[in-house]
Formats: sequence, C-alpha cells, structure tokens
Amino acid sequence: MKQNYLIEKYAQFLPITAETSRKSLGEGTTPLVRSSRLGSELGLENLYFKLETLNPTGSFKDRGMFLAVAKAVESGSEAVICASTGNTSASASAYAALHGIRSFVVVPSGKIALGKLAQATVHGATIIQIQGSFDDALHIVRDITERSPVALVNSVNPHRIDGQKTAAFEIVDELGTAPDLLCIPVGNAGNITAYWKGFTEYQSAGKISSLPKMWGFQAAGSAPIVLGHRVSEPETIATAIRIGNPASWTGALNAQDQSGGKIDSVTDDEILRAYHRLATEEGIFCEPASAASVAGLIKRSQNGENLSQLTAVCVITGHGLKDPDTALSITADRVEVEADVLLVEEAMNLH
Ligand code: F0G
Repeated sequence: MKQNYLIEKYAQFLPITAETSRKSLGEGTTPLVRSSRLGSELGLENLYFKLETLNPTGSFKDRGMFLAVAKAVESGSEAVICASTGNTSASASAYAALHGIRSFVVVPSGKIALGKLAQATVHGATIIQIQGSFDDALHIVRDITERSPVALVNSVNPHRIDGQKTAAFEIVDELGTAPDLLCIPVGNAGNITAYWKGFTEYQSAGKISSLPKMWGFQAAGSAPIVLGHRVSEPETIATAIRIGNPASWTGALNAQDQSGGKIDSVTDDEILRAYHRLATEEGIFCEPASAASVAGLIKRSQNGENLSQLTAVCVITGHGLKDPDTALSITADRVEVEADVLLVEEAMNLH
C-alpha cells in the first residue's frame, strides 16, 4: 500500500515539496468501469464511467482537497474555509480532521443534500448555513479569506485544480490513450478546468497525441455558461450544481473552445431519467448532479450526434447515498407484509 498514491504516481505534475504532508485517506485510483448496456444502446464503440463516487468522502473533491489542505498546513494555516453545495464541505472537513485543523463551511440553507450535511457534521466542521445561494457563500468566503489567515479551499485555490487533474491522468493511463469524448457535469466549473489541464499537461509531456472533446453539462435551471449570463436564482434538483455564477467560467470556456467541445444544458427530467437508468441498467448509484454527464450524452445522441466509433468517458462525480431524499422519491417496488413465508412469497408474485 502506497503512502499517498497520487503523490507517488504523479509527483512531477504536482506542486509538492519535501515539506508537503503525505497524509492520505486513499483518494484517487478510482475504477473506470465499462458500460454494460447504455453504451451500445447509444451506438458508442466504447463507453466508460469514471467512478469518482469511490473516493474517501464519496466524491471527486477528495483528489483536490488532499492537496489543498496539505498545502494550507504547509503554509502554516490552522483552519480552512469553503463555500459549498455540499461535497466540498464534506471533503474539506474530512481532510481538516485528518490534519487536526479546524474547518468552516458556508452552505446555502436547506439546499444541500442530507448525506453531505451529515458528513460535515460528523467531521466536526463549523457549519454556517446562509439564507442565500452558493454564489453568495463563495463571495462571502473570498471576502473573509482576504482579511483573515484561514485558507480558502474552494476550487479557486489552484491546488484543488492540480489535485483534480489527476483523474484525467488515470483515464489515459488506463485506456492507453485519451478518450474521444469526456462528459462531465459543470457547476462552479473547477472540475472541467482541471480535467482539461490534466489532458493538456499529459500531451505536453508526450503521453498522448490527441485530446478529447470536452462535453460539459449544466442543469437547465442553473446554466449560466450556456445562457451566456449569470443566473441570479439558480434552481435544479441536482443541488450540487445549483450555481449561477461559476468561478471558473473562463476555464470551462477554454476547455470547450480549445477541445472543439460543447457546454450544454440538461433538464431536471433528463437528469432524473439518466440517474434512474444508471442505477437500474448499469448498477451505478450516483447523485443527480453526476447523472448530468450521462443525461447530456443521451441528449446529444438523440439529437443526431454520430457517436459510433467513439470512446467516451462519463465522469460520475458523487455517490448516490449522499442524497437519500432524491433516491426515495423514485417510485419503488416496495410493500410491507406480516413476517410470514407465504405472505412474502405472495408479495414476490410467485403465485
Ligand atoms: N458533481 C458533483 C457531485 C459536485 O458536487 C459538483 C460540485 C460538481 C459535479 C460540479 O463540479 O463545481 O467543479 O464544476 N460541487 C461543489 C461543492 C460546487 O461545493 O461541492 P464543479
């Protein structure tokens, strides 16, 4: 077992010094799983899912957070702060606990999924729920960190992007080449920026000759990049990407333009259908925001995009257990009976 797999494997691409902590919760090295049904239904040569759900706190945030917190500690910080739609707060509070420092998380009240709130609570974060949006929260934490020695660990922190780009490295290392398409949900736009940085750095290092087209997907009610203007009251069931003014807007546009890709939007209905299909046709339980990548791929295929001969990777960003409310809102095949063999058999419709 390596001490810190991402540092040992990718040190030359990371801002590591001898003083940087190697503490790890086992982030990264997530599976690239081949689609069993959806890919062939969409006519794709190869469809893979990058299961970032299997990171220590259940989302891709851990790849960047291990590094952001290690660098904060290295520079003498005794506390970290972030704005969050939930996953960043879960990850920041876990890594702060690992390093024995404090964490402050500022979240939109009532708009973060239950599991994420549970995580930040258990890890001992100071949770500040504001009557406002993620965008308001980010504005507030940026303001605070300009005046106080608390380290900002949102993806505006470049160490977050550097850690997260390792997912692109892993995909290439496993496929032996870059995929043709990389489908990814877009919220604050840090992750699409990070993947693009990873692919282009690997190209500069001579590890790949071609680059993927970057297909990013926002939720239709929170699609500022697609609309070309800020959204003051973003709404979507995919609360993780309920963001109206992404901090890495320019990074996302660069990824789109330089790769010949596309940032598009998907409706909540399309997201929920993809969420359900992933769970029932592939055995993959993700949170709604993650299903946006798959919903987008389905939408573009239905709109006549020719996907045959292509290899696509959909990034599955966060675990379904984080949002039990959405999971339980699905119409279930569920009955209750007395503890009796015959009644249970009857409920199984065997007779
Ligand atoms: N998927 C999930 C599960 C997320 O939690 C997020 C962002 C995204 C996708 C979008 O990534 O912001 O880099 O474009 N969550 C942030 C948070 C905003 O606070 O947890 P992005």
